[in-house]
Amino acid sequence: MTIPSSAPSRPDDESVAPTRSEDPDDGDEGGIGAFRRKHAQELRGEHPALLEALDIIRRVADTDATVLVTGESGTGKELVARAIHRASARSGRPFVAINCGAVPEGLLESELFGHAKGAFTGAHTARVGRFAQADGGSVFLDEIGEIGAALQVKLLRVLQERDVTPVGDARTYPVDIRVIAATNRDLEAMSAPGGPFRSDLYYRLNVIQLVMPPLRERATDIPLLLAHFVEERNRRHNRRVSGVTPEAMSLLCAYGWPGNVRELQNVVERIVVLKGQGSIEVRDLPERIRSAPPNARSTVPPSSAPLMLLPEDGIDLRDVLDQLEHHLIRQALERAGGNKNRAAALLRLQRTTLVEKLKRRGLAQAGED
Ligand SMILES: Nc1ncnc2c1ncn2[C@@H]1O[C@H](COP(=O)(O)OP(=O)(O)OP(=O)(O)O)[C@@H](O)[C@H]1O
Ligand SMILES: [Mg+2]
Repeated sequence: MTIPSSAPSRPDDESVAPTRSEDPDDGDEGGIGAFRRKHAQELRGEHPALLEALDIIRRVADTDATVLVTGESGTGKELVARAIHRASARSGRPFVAINCGAVPEGLLESELFGHAKGAFTGAHTARVGRFAQADGGSVFLDEIGEIGAALQVKLLRVLQERDVTPVGDARTYPVDIRVIAATNRDLEAMSAPGGPFRSDLYYRLNVIQLVMPPLRERATDIPLLLAHFVEERNRRHNRRVSGVTPEAMSLLCAYGWPGNVRELQNVVERIVVLKGQGSIEVRDLPERIRSAPPNARSTVPPSSAPLMLLPEDGIDLRDVLDQLEHHLIRQALERAGGNKNRAAALLRLQRTTLVEKLKRRGLAQAGED
């Protein structure tokens, strides 16, 4: 599948005109940008693999098709499930998430299907299961690869018949749910003959598969995700971390991120809390990232200036550049002891250019000749 690139569209060039645009002011992403703003804002990234995932989310959202979200831990599988629900006609109804790996096998059945009064010791009252709670909405079955054989049979029935049988109840009750399942395991391999996962259940779940790419395969999104998390954590912890040095950015982009986006989020959180302000430097990074092998394909521009992180709501570029210039000129003058020749040399400017700038800034008296 080809996804229109996120490069700015050029209306004069038909060959790059968007192919799937439904939103006139969003031609460059074929409507994905507008869709994301509306339903999937927390899913950040511009890498083609992520845009492809967003495109699938957009196309399945208005159906009741079962979706299987696969991908390593921390790649955003739950965010995807929530986005599908939010973008669907079921959005006004519950989104019920169950982590099948976290609930003990013995309790999971009554958790999912509910139970009748007296169904087992301690069942003093009847209990409505999670499927019934989600009626009209979506059920997110996280870590679906963890469920045992008996429950797999019951789940298959839910997917086939759209009804549930509470534990200890002879009756079945219809449920109107959309199922989204997620796993970081290889369900296909697990459902091979003799494997622990029923192949018929696998086929029922795997109607539409959405593969979330690991972060190392979309490393070009790292600077953007980093900026997002720094801003978010600054706000949350009342901190003012403002940038990252190119060397630190290089290391962050070269690292393999086995814990994916969640790991990046945690690394940023720790740095923001402990550092508080200024630019993220190499020494602020955890040892495992500092010792990552250098990445020759680093996309970070060679420069010694800290990379400023673009805040969520953007910046006034002229204003920021103006302030930066102001600070650097003042520092140069200070370091040069007010000598304009030396200050100009420190800034690689002609003396006349510096003098011109000083005049414009009302700093004409700041230095000496
Ligand atoms: N594309 C993204 N943009 C912004 N935040 C993201 C993105 N992907 C994941 N995250 C964040 O990373 C964390 C992990 O995401 P999520 O819980 O959806 O991953 P997961 O694949 O379900 O992980 P696990 O398999 O460990 O349950 C969350 O805090 C989520 O907000
Ligand atoms: Mg998850």
